[in-house]
Amino acid sequence: MAGYSDAPMRQLAAEQGALWTVSEMISSRGLALGSDTESLNLGRPYAGEVGRVVQLFGTEPEVLAAAVAKAEGWFAPAALDLNMGCPVPKVRGKGGACLLQTPELAFELIRAMRGATGLDVSAKIRLGWDSNRSLEVAQGLAEAGAAIITVHGRTSAQRYTGEADWDAIAAVGASVSVPVIGSGDIRNVEQARQRRQSGVAAVMIGRGAVGNPWIFRALATGDDAWPSLPTRAATALRHAELHIQFYAGPLGTGRVSLLPLRKVLPHYLPDVPDLHAALVQIETLEQLRDCLMPYLESPLMTDRAEEYRLVAAQSTPQALLKGYAVNRP
Ligand SMILES: Cc1cc2nc3c(=O)[nH]c(=O)nc-3n(C[C@H](O)[C@H](O)[C@H](O)COP(=O)(O)O)c2cc1C
Repeated sequence: MAGYSDAPMRQLAAEQGALWTVSEMISSRGLALGSDTESLNLGRPYAGEVGRVVQLFGTEPEVLAAAVAKAEGWFAPAALDLNMGCPVPKVRGKGGACLLQTPELAFELIRAMRGATGLDVSAKIRLGWDSNRSLEVAQGLAEAGAAIITVHGRTSAQRYTGEADWDAIAAVGASVSVPVIGSGDIRNVEQARQRRQSGVAAVMIGRGAVGNPWIFRALATGDDAWPSLPTRAATALRHAELHIQFYAGPLGTGRVSLLPLRKVLPHYLPDVPDLHAALVQIETLEQLRDCLMPYLESPLMTDRAEEYRLVAAQSTPQALLKGYAVNRP
């Protein structure tokens, strides 16, 4: 998720059992033609990261192929994904959901990406631009060589309004021979379980993981218990510490702003609304620590992180999907 699934968020998710994660989308042009710090930070793994898919967007086959080659060399991804779902105007015309209007071009992009790597190439689509043409698009993508197709059950015109159409996602799952991952509106274990029964190979969690990495632990163990307030406060602080560590790293400027976390931190503490005004104005780690101090007294619940890391390290997203299908109810 652009603006969210950076290395620190992915690390917290993986520590709680996410089988794999996806980077924020990266401009294939930016990556292929330059090497700006922003693109590098979007793709760069945290130390020891495994099972991370790198997502690219673009419309030019040769540029995507060059970006794939760079991404494979620089970012050590588990697979490469083509964004065909982003509806925002900044991306429109440069790829994203626009490609749903020109599926033939999308198929060509997948073929170009495949030609540039031995890794799996996948695609993330919406149901269509303003009407559902997901079957036709997904079948063409599978024929072009997409190893996995993720479907967000809304059209681009819907943006994030209404509810994701899981019947439509299930229909895609039934119409192609490659694994289909469903995306849209999953916020808890019960919903994930129900959605899995629709026949998808796995579910993807987006907004439900913001300030809630434990949703992956809940899915992995079946235990839906929400962590205590002190654990959540300690994790919010750790998120900020990881943020500073990552962005102050080799490519960073040394002075790291916590501004991008202002929209995230309140999600850790929805039950303490009095804190929100302060959290959305946080500038430094010291301020955040002061703010959270009354609640900081609990372990972080990272006891299973190494176990989860080993599972994720075992294979490609495809093999993980097979494991998921076998191991998960
Ligand atoms: C702020 C935001 C940024 C997103 N960025 C991306 C993105 O970069 N790539 C992508 O494939 N989907 C992106 N999505 C879509 C999500 O991956 C997901 O399909 C959608 O939000 C529905 O799932 P959810 O209800 O679990 O969030 C984004 C969604 C949001 C809200």
